[in-house]
Amino acid sequence: MNNDKLIAKLNACLSHEWTGVAQYSQQGFMVSGLWREPYAEMFFDSAKESYGHAQRIGEKIVALGGVPTLERNKVQVGDDIHGMLQHALEFEQNAVKHYLEALELAEGNRPLVVLLEDILLEEQDGVDQLQKIVHERSAGAAGETRKTSKTG
Ligand SMILES: [Fe+2]
Repeated sequence: MNNDKLIAKLNACLSHEWTGVAQYSQQGFMVSGLWREPYAEMFFDSAKESYGHAQRIGEKIVALGGVPTLERNKVQVGDDIHGMLQHALEFEQNAVKHYLEALELAEGNRPLVVLLEDILLEEQDGVDQLQKIVHERSAGAAGETRKTSKTG
């Protein structure tokens, strides 16, 4: 295992999490109108989840002999709830990508693999939930899908 490469990748994960803390917080502050009630709390909870991931990754970077980054990437907020949710979905999809790449480098370090897989599961859950919100299906379309999958 190349430690420098691994630490660099974990720092890329950490940058992504710092981006999530800022982006989701800003979305929580900015969401307005009828959508404020259901979504402000969801965005703030996501900011807290990103912070929790940042904390776990930052601690691990130090344990491996590295220095946790303070850098974050560009924040994408969105002008309305649809834009915000689309950016949130893209953010979670990128998180999955980052942790999958980190897992490839973590091979041989079983505890780190477990840690990264644990976070990966939460990121994938974020993708799954946001996809259901963003790609709303009508009851008819859902019925159609069920019918198709039964015959297939
Ligand atoms: Fe995360």
